[in-house]
Amino acid sequence: RRPPNIDELLQRMTLAEKIGQLNLLSAGEGPETGSAHSRDIRARLEAGQLGAIFGTKSVRSVRAWQEIAVEGSRHGIPLLFAEDVIHGHRTIFPLPVALVCSWDMALVRATARVAATEAAAEGINQVYAPMLDIARDARWGRIAESPGEDPFLAARYAEAMVGGLQGDDLTALDTVAACLKHFLAYGAAAGGRDYDNASLAPAELIGVYAEPFRAGVAAGAASVMAAFNAVNGCPMHAHRGLIEGWLRGVCGFDGLVVADYTGVHELIAHGLGDRATVAARALLAGVDMDMIGEDYLACLPELAEAGLSRPEAALDLAAPAIIAAIDRSCRRVLSLKQRLGLFEDPYRYCDEARAKGAALAAPHRDLARRAVAASCVLLRNEGVLPLKPGSRVALIGRLGDDRANMLGTWAVSGDPGQAVTILEGLRAVHDGPVDHAKGANIVDDADIAARLDVFGPTVLPDPRPEAELIAEALALAARADVVVLVAGEAKEHSGESSSRTELDIPAPQRRLLEALAQAGKPIALVVMAGRSLVLARESRLADALLLAWFGGTEAGHGIADVLTGRAEPGGRLAVSLPACSGQVPIHHGAETTGRPWTGQFQKFRTGYLDLPGEIPPARGLYPFGFGLGYTRFEWGEPRVTPASPGGPDARVTVAVTIRNAGDRRGTEVVQLYVSDPVARIVRPSQELKGFERVTLDPGEAREVRFTLARDDLTYLVGDSVEGLSRVWDPGSFILRLGPNSRDLTSIEITWND
Ligand code: IFM
Repeated sequence: RRPPNIDELLQRMTLAEKIGQLNLLSAGEGPETGSAHSRDIRARLEAGQLGAIFGTKSVRSVRAWQEIAVEGSRHGIPLLFAEDVIHGHRTIFPLPVALVCSWDMALVRATARVAATEAAAEGINQVYAPMLDIARDARWGRIAESPGEDPFLAARYAEAMVGGLQGDDLTALDTVAACLKHFLAYGAAAGGRDYDNASLAPAELIGVYAEPFRAGVAAGAASVMAAFNAVNGCPMHAHRGLIEGWLRGVCGFDGLVVADYTGVHELIAHGLGDRATVAARALLAGVDMDMIGEDYLACLPELAEAGLSRPEAALDLAAPAIIAAIDRSCRRVLSLKQRLGLFEDPYRYCDEARAKGAALAAPHRDLARRAVAASCVLLRNEGVLPLKPGSRVALIGRLGDDRANMLGTWAVSGDPGQAVTILEGLRAVHDGPVDHAKGANIVDDADIAARLDVFGPTVLPDPRPEAELIAEALALAARADVVVLVAGEAKEHSGESSSRTELDIPAPQRRLLEALAQAGKPIALVVMAGRSLVLARESRLADALLLAWFGGTEAGHGIADVLTGRAEPGGRLAVSLPACSGQVPIHHGAETTGRPWTGQFQKFRTGYLDLPGEIPPARGLYPFGFGLGYTRFEWGEPRVTPASPGGPDARVTVAVTIRNAGDRRGTEVVQLYVSDPVARIVRPSQELKGFERVTLDPGEAREVRFTLARDDLTYLVGDSVEGLSRVWDPGSFILRLGPNSRDLTSIEITWND
């Protein structure tokens, strides 16, 4: 078919048809994440009251819905099909927070490419990813889907994901429209409670939380999803200042903004007014499509006729303003469909054979396996890893052989049955016997177990008494050379609506570790988790500590590769690991106070009474950027040229030579941080400004260089988002280079105006 002229099409459409395009419903074929559910989809479609569907699970289903839309409606406008493709579609990759730990943006991009290929082959046009919410509070369960705590790293992740998902051409058969979410500051939820609101100074809101969105928009993202939370008093689904003002106005975003699940309707619970009021508020704020709640469908026809006056909500809207907003939003929906080539061929993405060939294809699984190894963070290793060939391994822990828990949260199209367990992975590659015992249940609290099993059984307990389970594990350990204990969270411990107040490994598994530690065998602890857990106790009890997150379909193979040394543990923390739960939120750049911590606890200075004095109170026990490999690197002295740059166009180059001083090939992530010791406002103690992954053979050396421009030293000031300006203060800056955010060598430079 010939693509229509959108202006002409809009002229031919009735107001009702335009409103229909703004309606977004769920096919109900996957998990539904709210209390309302879509009904009567077919009737909606036949009545021209539906613009998009998400949550289909097969080509057949997409084709069936599309046929009704195209054959049965007046203008034959195709539907847009969306899906939550968060860390892979059929081939599930490590959780986003894990993948970011690779600091390998080519790898991130490659995983997004695979996800797009698998999803597009099934008729999906738009994916609700990447999730770009900066997360500094591990109580928040959606930290699992986040790019971590740092805006610079998250911005690079945003670019890589958008590039991988969208490619250069949205009409290509293996690309999909990205949807940056959740705009804005969803990760700053008060107390780490999902859906709770955020209060942030404008400079932090834009400079930190919006930074990955700015990068994603600059990379060409086609759509954005509004966040559930309120920011500084205004719910994001009604936040005209941030959506129309900043996102579209300042950032230049010209794509589609979709609501989150019943996000428009929830404005009523936020206290913004009745159904008509919230529909009008969301539309005027720039939310183009209404997900699930159908408030647009129910209210916009009348609003477009009569306008709206609500003195109690300080709202006075004339009908023409509503009609103009409907036109504008409908145009955005149609434009995206146009960009995807759906008007020319609404079935272009529906291809059973291609879908079958793409899903879980061998190269996809290979990439997933490499991604697991690249995401695993080795936190401690007292000579236990890699496992010695020929050694007898006691693999202990329920999670060591637990297919149901391998994929992690938000893997809605992933098949747990296809996942490789750690037991299978180890048996496949370890040169020596591997025996398994459960040792403990994941949790021992029945109420919590019921909450974790909401999407199906993942924590079903072994009915045997705990003492019996532990005794079995101890007997296995006694016969082994080394214990590999797998412990941590179940898959639903993190993700949406999975906030926790305690960030520990659940109690029965802690007791198991304590019992095994008494037995005296070397212990390598593999932690599965969707958040930054507190691992202080575990660091004392285990000889090696590997944070493996949730690795997805190939988790078992990838983890086994790392344990046996077939692969390097490639991960460096994208989130600081706290020393105790009460410490969060934390991040590596926390501002100093007027009474800073001095390296030990001191009365009347920043600190916690009940933290060991040497632990920085506002930093992690394991710092951001940290991770060990299996080799050793020597760092030369960093060099800066020029040491006293001047003028707006000056550039500074900072270089360091690193050498692989070990006896095996390995990777170091060279990280550059900058501090601004004197400024007009309090600045972060340091900011990440550059990084590079370097892989070297034994004895090999490489110089790594970063170039800084004056723009890299600027920052935002202002009392409102609208009033923000970017400033810089000449003078002294400290450049810090190192393998993580703590172990850094500093050089001071003076940058004059
Ligand atoms: O995309 C998700 C979002 O992240 C949370 N609420 C539901 C949406 C659609 O499934």
